[in-house]
Amino acid sequence: MVTTTAEARGQARGVVGLVPTMGFLHEGHLSLMERSAAECDLTMATLYVNPLQFDDPADLARYPADHDRDLALAEACGVDLMVVPGPEEMFPSPPLTGVTVAGIGERLEGEFRPGHMTGVATVVTRLLAALQPDRAYFGRKDAQQLAVVTRVVRDLGFPVEVVGCPLVREVDGLALSSRNVLLGRRRSKALALSRGLMGAADRFDQGERRATALEAAVRSAVPDDALEYARLCEASTMTGATMAEGETVLVAAARFGPVRIIDNVCLVADRRGASADRGVRLGHPSLIYGSE
Ligand code: PAF
Repeated sequence: MVTTTAEARGQARGVVGLVPTMGFLHEGHLSLMERSAAECDLTMATLYVNPLQFDDPADLARYPADHDRDLALAEACGVDLMVVPGPEEMFPSPPLTGVTVAGIGERLEGEFRPGHMTGVATVVTRLLAALQPDRAYFGRKDAQQLAVVTRVVRDLGFPVEVVGCPLVREVDGLALSSRNVLLGRRRSKALALSRGLMGAADRFDQGERRATALEAAVRSAVPDDALEYARLCEASTMTGATMAEGETVLVAAARFGPVRIIDNVCLVADRRGASADRGVRLGHPSLIYGSE
């Protein structure tokens, strides 16, 4: 089941779905894999911790990993081919070519993590070119990443459908991320971010549309020294919005000790009505914490 990109491409058949990951899988990843397995003839998942998207070497060094567990979980979710490319296969020498999405990739995460979005866009481009999937599945937790990848595919003409899938939350609301295991005793403080976003979504449901008020709902929940940004954006361009009208996303990032987390709620208001997409919640503790 474990293969290189070249071998995986050789085994492609029918409609191919791709789920790119950096491993240490959680229920968010598994939902992408299950969806791909249900919709495609063959599902490939990649497990590659992409150094290009880490602006901080310490963050890369502590990124959690458990390959054996990942392989077993992926197989149980219907993944046919687990692609685990080595560094020499992905980037035999440091790439001189980078994929930068002007504007969309430069704001927010692009500002706070210089080079991050270019690193993501470059590796996703590399994977799409090597594996040539028909569909590629990404979680909405990384709303800006989804906007960037969608734009790369459009601008470079990859014949692939980018499928955005629901954000998955832990029982208490924390958006699932492999990094959550690193929060330790700071986990309860980190809950402030999702609490703030849920408060903003409630205000949106009550009719509030002003960006200032929605962003303030997040700011009031998260200590100033932790919050990096809370911003209402137009969903496809990630440009700042003054009102939650059309398709917007309220994105936020915060740092708790060495661990940085991001989260969002999608707010849609148009002629058909208004809805706040808070993602889906697990009914049990996430598997990232093990069985204890
Ligand atoms: O979302 C992630 O895990 C990563 O950014 C991705 C898309 C696998 C690229 O390395």
